[in-house]
Amino acid sequence: MRNRYTGAMTTPAPDAPLRLKLIVGSTRAERTSDPVVRWALPLVQAHPAFTTEVLDLRDWPLPFFQEGPKTIGDPRAPSYSDPLVKRWNQTIVDGDAFVMVTPEYNHGPPAVLKNAIDSVFFSFGFRHKSVGFIGYSAGIAAGVRAVEQLNTVMLETEAVPVRTQVLIPNVAAAFDPAGKPVNPVTGFGLQIMLDDLAWLGRALRTARAQGEPPPPTARLRAAMSAPRT
Ligand SMILES: Cc1cc2nc3c(=O)[nH]c(=O)nc-3n(C[C@H](O)[C@H](O)[C@H](O)COP(=O)(O)O)c2cc1C
Repeated sequence: MRNRYTGAMTTPAPDAPLRLKLIVGSTRAERTSDPVVRWALPLVQAHPAFTTEVLDLRDWPLPFFQEGPKTIGDPRAPSYSDPLVKRWNQTIVDGDAFVMVTPEYNHGPPAVLKNAIDSVFFSFGFRHKSVGFIGYSAGIAAGVRAVEQLNTVMLETEAVPVRTQVLIPNVAAAFDPAGKPVNPVTGFGLQIMLDDLAWLGRALRTARAQGEPPPPTARLRAAMSAPRT
């Protein structure tokens, strides 16, 4: 099935692996996400339900959000304000499921990650797809407030968050010299999250293939402009 707004293929064959995109949401030079991703990525890649692509936001220097009807251009082939924004939208449209790795900055996710989510504009690339979160922080909070905010943000994109989140406190001491988590709950949590992402991701892919209702904003606009009796 094609995305009605971008023309991109949104749904591969029902038995194909789900295309999982792992988004690394921290970009600063001294970031502490690297041991988290080094541990999680092989487990994601080993899961039989997925083919995995890493989207490290360091490799995606997206401009600060500035999209609108004028930047979209031709709605059948949106150009956006920047070719990178276009490519980002196409990359997200191509995904079936997402894992977001996030630290906590001032009780929320990093601005670069929020900007990357907002930049998925008009393509509805997250719509009706499963999403899970791996949060971490330097202290005891484990990124939980960033993850809770992301849960709410992703609901607005009409993604479907899974219940189980991986939360890593004291990230500097969370992995042993072999790179394995010191706390076994971290590993069990990731497996549960991936299994739920796979189950939900398959169910949503099947549902998308059967046809999706137009986005609520489009339906509201249509309802408001229809003659009223
Ligand atoms: C701007 C900023 C704000 C932060 N705010 C919080 C916070 O609200 N809660 C928390 O637990 N840690 C906070 N921290 C600590 C980070 O969670 C911790 O340094 C984490 O390892 C940062 O991830 P990064 O190294 O991938 O950027 C903050 C760090 C920075 C740089």
